[in-house]
Amino acid sequence: EEKWVLMVTAQTPTNIAVIKYWGKRDEVRILPINDSISVTLDPDHLCTLTTVAVSPSFDRDRMWLNGKEISLSGSRYQNCLREIRSRGDDVEDKAKGIKIAKKDWEKLHLHIASYNNFPTAAGLASSAAGFACLVFSLAKLMNVNEDQSQLSAIARQGSGSACRSLFGGFVKWNMGVKEDGSDSVAVQLADEKHWDDLVIIIAVVSSREKETSSTSGMRESVETSLLLKHRAEEVVPRRISEMEEAIKNRDFTSFTKLTCTDSNQFHAVCMDTSPPIFYMNDTSHRIISLVEKWNRSVGTPEIAYTFDAGPNAVLIAKSRKVAVELLQGLLYCFPPKPDTDMKSYVLGDKSIVK
Ligand code: PMV
Repeated sequence: EEKWVLMVTAQTPTNIAVIKYWGKRDEVRILPINDSISVTLDPDHLCTLTTVAVSPSFDRDRMWLNGKEISLSGSRYQNCLREIRSRGDDVEDKAKGIKIAKKDWEKLHLHIASYNNFPTAAGLASSAAGFACLVFSLAKLMNVNEDQSQLSAIARQGSGSACRSLFGGFVKWNMGVKEDGSDSVAVQLADEKHWDDLVIIIAVVSSREKETSSTSGMRESVETSLLLKHRAEEVVPRRISEMEEAIKNRDFTSFTKLTCTDSNQFHAVCMDTSPPIFYMNDTSHRIISLVEKWNRSVGTPEIAYTFDAGPNAVLIAKSRKVAVELLQGLLYCFPPKPDTDMKSYVLGDKSIVK
């Protein structure tokens, strides 16, 4: 029996939506009801590290998440694995004497080990980094010859927001119009250097797992919220083009207005869902008030806030100077206690404040 193992390791950052995706028109293919725009975080901070391995001695596909074995039987994993396998190409490692033919990928088994360096399923888009990293590392292992947008359509089938993590900088996920989802892909709007004065601070209000998963939350909103219908049809299309313009011109005032109102509308949709979904808590609301007061008192906005399916605040500061002042303000208003888990990570440089 042959005794070799071929491995690839990749690291993928998470992304934070500034115009939110909420609602699917096709739950199996994961096709959204509106376009969305996000910013990808620096690769060293909130990220997933995944190693994929292939060997003739593996007898089935297996995966470990944060050191614990998890099942791959769910359709999200199965769809990603099937799609990527079907695109595998010839691979040769002469030094190790390994040769894999295109057709072998269908029968060779994989071992996957994945680590998140941040709380899983706490509304910090862990699945975004996770599926993006899985698809990217498998594509490298299998020598898949497709561009990042085509790979994004595969990552999308693991978790919608994952498609946006295949690019750095500012990224748009086009909802697409085709039934097969082939045009529901991510594209880069601007690279990570375009607006690098921005500093993103994640205030971890709670690292507990959320009560309503985004999948069931979206389903309930699509079924019951009239506000969501209005949002997807009337509001988001206009906001998307305004946000593209704001990003292009590095217009922080418009960027902040759009980011904050879109986050608030997403949470209003959750409230408009029957039964209502509450992702934010009192601390989240206090952070919103603090930022709103701050921006009003300085005249032109300096900080944008946005919240995903959880209570944690993502704060985007206009500059490093503002970020330092904001951290001081946060630590003053929310002094960390040993028994709470309020932590702040400064992203955009190497310092992490805990
Ligand atoms: O891709 P999912 O199922 O994790 O959904 C993500 C939904 C939000 O994070 C709330 C919004 C977004 O666009 O990322």
